[in-house]
Amino acid sequence: MLGHTWIQPCARPLRSWALARAPSRAYSRWSSYNARSQALRLTSFQHPWSRSEPRVLGAMTSPAPSGTLLSATHGLRAQPFCLVRRLLQSQTTGAAVDQVSTGGESSSNSQSAAGPQASRKVVGYWLMASAVSVFGIVVWGGVTRLTESGLSIVEWNLIRGMKPPRSEEDWEAEFTKYKQFPEYQKIHRDMTLEQFKFIYFMEWGHRMWGRMIGLTFILPAAYFTYKGWMTKAVKSRVWIIAGLVCFQGALGWYMVKSGLDHTLMDDPGAVPRVSQYRLAAHLGTAFLAYTGMYFTGLSVFRENNVARNRLSSFTSLVNRSAVNPLRHSVHGLTMLIFFTALSGAFVAGLDAGMLYDTFPLMGGRWVPPSEDLWSPAFADPHPTASTNTALPADMPTGMWRNLLENPTTVQFNHRVLAMTTFTAISIVYLYSRRLPLPRSTRNTLHALMALATAQVTLGILTLLNSVPTDLAAVHQAGSISLLTASLTLMHLLKKVPK
Ligand code: HEM
Repeated sequence: MLGHTWIQPCARPLRSWALARAPSRAYSRWSSYNARSQALRLTSFQHPWSRSEPRVLGAMTSPAPSGTLLSATHGLRAQPFCLVRRLLQSQTTGAAVDQVSTGGESSSNSQSAAGPQASRKVVGYWLMASAVSVFGIVVWGGVTRLTESGLSIVEWNLIRGMKPPRSEEDWEAEFTKYKQFPEYQKIHRDMTLEQFKFIYFMEWGHRMWGRMIGLTFILPAAYFTYKGWMTKAVKSRVWIIAGLVCFQGALGWYMVKSGLDHTLMDDPGAVPRVSQYRLAAHLGTAFLAYTGMYFTGLSVFRENNVARNRLSSFTSLVNRSAVNPLRHSVHGLTMLIFFTALSGAFVAGLDAGMLYDTFPLMGGRWVPPSEDLWSPAFADPHPTASTNTALPADMPTGMWRNLLENPTTVQFNHRVLAMTTFTAISIVYLYSRRLPLPRSTRNTLHALMALATAQVTLGILTLLNSVPTDLAAVHQAGSISLLTASLTLMHLLKKVPK
């Protein structure tokens, strides 16, 4: 690797050599390098005996490791040799640098042990396409839940489950299986075979889409790893995401199983639906996988831009310390959006949106009565088993369950979190207007503000109309769009390494 400490002593003779011989474009880039005198900058440089296009040479941030040719030449001022050594170095390191900057054919033997400095752009495109696919499946999953289709397939088989019923007998057999479970017996008793085909198709489509995401993520990940097209950091993130994708498949079935539980039949008041905890975990994992894919995709594009030195004007604005408060608060906003979305999954899981269909008041009050919000009915089912002596004897334990199981409290929490998120986004947006920011960052801030407004409006409309499928599905898509805007902003505000 070239260490900039080594380049410095050679700069003067190279500059005069370049002045005399090199084409003006190559020289101007070289002199701009010299002026900035920065590590991790790339500069064009014409090989003296080559007629080819100027090629990109990398100057790395790290000092030359001891014992290498570089460290042997470090501090060398014997100028004629210096140039020769530099050119030799360009030959020996050229392959690796080209591979980074142009994405030329890689081979593991031309790379350093640490892998390439920038992942291939194709990795970025693939991650973005995967993120789009996850966005789609989240919306499809929402519609599947809203059309009460999620419990229509009562078995899970990775391979055999891919084949949908074809003949009328197959359909009848599937319908008969469905009839054994609480959802049919309690809610869908008058369902026809044609209606069953629709809900079956929704759930089958969701599962097939999930399989496709698994396949189109894991196979390319293995290929790119084999080819060495990813940096170490990107590779480890990609494999964590692959793990999340597999986990999500298992979690999906674990969630569906909770809605097929036969004990639901024992309690006359019980509603056959999946556990809100498992639904929230399923949505949360989808959001995490999406975040990983999208953010890593953006990082790959940035790695390439940094390697090509395409970010300098952007860097000077974004790296300013005046931007630090904005940088930090956008992290907070992203967390807030994530937790608001999770609380929304609890609203959806408990059908809590059907309750209190007014806004901003809930049952004519800003805050529902405390006995509704904090009801002993949702406390631990066996309070006497508790050993918590810090509580009064007549006070049931596990009152915290109200936060996650009481539909009134869950809806109230979602409203409060949503309005907090909206207010925080508005404050950050207004604050950012005073800052000199690159245009892309400013536009993303506009988008974030607009999406937050749209999302709150959609949420209110969903509530006022008692959760119609179309509005609720768009509200779900809105939450992931809002997260996307905030992740984009987080990425744009990330300091660029100098
Ligand atoms: C930052 C703002 C908001 C975000 C990020 C957000 C996010 C979400 C998410 C992710 C869901 C789950 C959807 C599903 O699993 O199908 C949800 C559901 C819901 N949200 Fe919001 N929400 C926001 C604001 C609001 C507001 C202001 C209201 C109304 C006051 C609201 C009312 C609802 C309702 C009623 C549901 C249940 C819909 C259903 O059953 O499918 N949301 N929200």
